[in-house]
Amino acid sequence: MEAPDAGLAAELERSLELTAERLGDPTAQVYRRLFELAPDLEPLFAGDRSGSVRGEMLQRALETLLDLVRGAPYAHGLIATEQINHAQFGVPPARFTLFLVAVVDVVRDALGAQWDAAIAAAWQAVLDRAAAACGTGPGAR
Ligand code: HEM
Repeated sequence: MEAPDAGLAAELERSLELTAERLGDPTAQVYRRLFELAPDLEPLFAGDRSGSVRGEMLQRALETLLDLVRGAPYAHGLIATEQINHAQFGVPPARFTLFLVAVVDVVRDALGAQWDAAIAAAWQAVLDRAAAACGTGPGAR
């Protein structure tokens, strides 16, 4: 497991604060992007009429990613466990981290010129760490 990195966490937080300044709640944009990348995954949310599951999932995923780079002991295991849980309701394990790719695309687009090298490196590092937790190798993006 990778060492805690407060600098990485700070860059992720900075990018999420800037995203919130630009978009407010980015939930709709994140799922729109996910369904652009993988239209076949949209029916999995058919039962989520209020959008509360999508909101909760994004919130939990972001908290877990921040805790992953802060070195919180639970984060690595939660990602691996959620990947297994999700396979049971139809999310192919190899596509589990696609949700994180959708998050990065929305943050990058929202930040525009403020998407600097430090923020880009922080998101690449957290994709790699999440992919390592899933046993699917470095996040290639
Ligand atoms: C393409 C990738 C993904 C898809 C299609 C997906 C889909 C879903 C769906 C359909 C549910 C609702 C399940 C139900 O009916 O109970 C759900 C719940 C959840 N997902 Fe995902 N998921 C993805 C990736 C992730 C990732 C990367 C994380 C976190 C690292 C995550 C964390 C969660 C959590 C915590 C819940 C429970 C939310 C609640 O308590 O309501 N998911 N996911």
